Amino acid sequence: MCGIVGCTGSMPVKKVLVEGLKRLEYRGYDSAGVAIQQDGALEVVHRVGKVAGLESELACRDLRGTCGIGHTRWATHGRPSTVNAHPHASCDGRIAVVHNGIIENFAELREQLQARGHVFASETDTEVLAHLLEEAYAECPGDLLTALRRALQHVIGAYGVAAVCADEPGVIACARKDSPIVVGRGKDASYVASDIIALIDATRDVVVLEDGQLARLTPESITYFDERGREIEPEITHVDWDVDLAEKGGYPDFMLKEIHEQPRVVRDTLAGRMVGGELSIDELGLSYEELNLIDRVYVIACGTSYHAGLIAKNLIERWARIPTEVEVASEFRYRNPIITPSTLVVAVSQSGETADTLAAIRDARIRGAKVFGITNVVGSPVARESDGVIYTKANKEIAVASTKSFLGQVVSLTLLALLLAQTKGRLTTAQVRLLFRELGDTAEQIERILHDTEAIDEAAYACKDAASALFVGRGIGSAICYEGALKLKEISYLHAEAYAAGEMKHGPIALIDDGFPVIAVATESPVYDKLVSNLKECEARGALIVAIATEGDEEIKKIARHVIYVPKVRDCFTPITASVPLQLFARAIALLRGCDVDQPRNLAKSVTVE
Ligand code: F6R
Repeated sequence: MCGIVGCTGSMPVKKVLVEGLKRLEYRGYDSAGVAIQQDGALEVVHRVGKVAGLESELACRDLRGTCGIGHTRWATHGRPSTVNAHPHASCDGRIAVVHNGIIENFAELREQLQARGHVFASETDTEVLAHLLEEAYAECPGDLLTALRRALQHVIGAYGVAAVCADEPGVIACARKDSPIVVGRGKDASYVASDIIALIDATRDVVVLEDGQLARLTPESITYFDERGREIEPEITHVDWDVDLAEKGGYPDFMLKEIHEQPRVVRDTLAGRMVGGELSIDELGLSYEELNLIDRVYVIACGTSYHAGLIAKNLIERWARIPTEVEVASEFRYRNPIITPSTLVVAVSQSGETADTLAAIRDARIRGAKVFGITNVVGSPVARESDGVIYTKANKEIAVASTKSFLGQVVSLTLLALLLAQTKGRLTTAQVRLLFRELGDTAEQIERILHDTEAIDEAAYACKDAASALFVGRGIGSAICYEGALKLKEISYLHAEAYAAGEMKHGPIALIDDGFPVIAVATESPVYDKLVSNLKECEARGALIVAIATEGDEEIKKIARHVIYVPKVRDCFTPITASVPLQLFARAIALLRGCDVDQPRNLAKSVTVE
């Protein structure tokens, strides 16, 4: 979603801002802009579309200013347009702000500000901040930080915000509440951003502001304050990512690079988990006794992470025999779920900052549940607000469509299911060890899938012009189908739905006619024969069947026009192997349809608004 960068130093800042905004492009956005201090005034430039467009416009301008802020906007209040793009300025144009998050009481504030004579240029919630700041600054001229702190006292909602003022050369003030802000010192400059990735060219030592904290940046130093304006000593986080992580590493797109990283994700997520022959997840934050008491599990998440939850339900109920519900966080948070102190809530979120998932965590904790987070981002709000956490070890995921993070989630949830089964005594130690070893073997099996993708490309070519597709499976296979369908629709804009195959004749089979694509997860399982019967019914009506099947299955060729083989694994591990060809299938169709696989339209990497 929206992204913030800011820099103050001794060199012209235009290029730094553009490079920082480019690093944030992966989050998804529809417009971009900068505000740069120049000759005692502020130059604000913004445009609809990609950062490259903004860069061309800036190239034509003689901007030498050494302090400025920039933003990529993903529209929430007001359509994507130049006037709605950030930065937003005060009436006198001497203050400019960039903001991530949502100001919930903006309508009320806007009305009050208009009544006091402020004139609004945009439809955004953010613009109220610029006008509030203008009023607050008039009360404490020369102290932008205090003005920002006071202005924010009127605001209800979430914000990561950075501001500059023409009257304070070289100063950036920033603050956060429920929307990340990171700050760091480079060699000769100070930097602010909403995401560490925008800073890693400049510094590896950053401060992640806590909710309520503010920072004042000058070219020489950064000073930190709490919400009452008292100076504080922040905690510095060292980031040890390789810059290459943010690059494509020779792949044509980030999505393909990330799909190919999945064997490593499996290995890293499992590393160190089997200690002295016993499965161990120390970070769980729950004692053996507390784990043993758990009698109900809720998995809460959104989108792809929700699909990982569907797989978790199957495994937790299968192995640990604990009733498990999976629910999208946006529903869970509003429906008064039945929670007791023996309920475990597992919150799954790649970004660790999804607004609905965070709200559901807070709600579950108020109701007395233990909350366990599964996230990819160290120190993210989901990690901080949960009782315990497993990090998925996927490393930064850049492509908007989640692939390696999904796999990391599935592996982590599989570990959790095994741990619950081990604790409850539902699986013997020997069974847990065997399953753990086979889970580890999937890394090599994924490598084999990635090695030969011809059948996937052929199937994609056959389906590329379809208007719609159905993904069907049974048992754990149907859970994989939901993710396969989501991947296809989000990056190729081809409409796709997933169904438990047994449901076909209760409605969806009406869609089938000649050439209608039916993608089946038809790997070896106890319900394989049932699935084949369902597929025969589709085939009889002309469906173009693409089957993901187990190596050696020759029978399936009688009904499927395209067969994509995956190595033979135990049924419980097919989510790991079968989702890889489905990711590649979606990507191949998206490319054939001319889509941008890394940055699909309308989507954001991190959904920080409700
Ligand atoms: C799809 C995708 C989204 C996310 C969803 C939740 O490829 O990535 O559906 O899974 O927005 O995001 P997180 O996992 O960050 O909470």
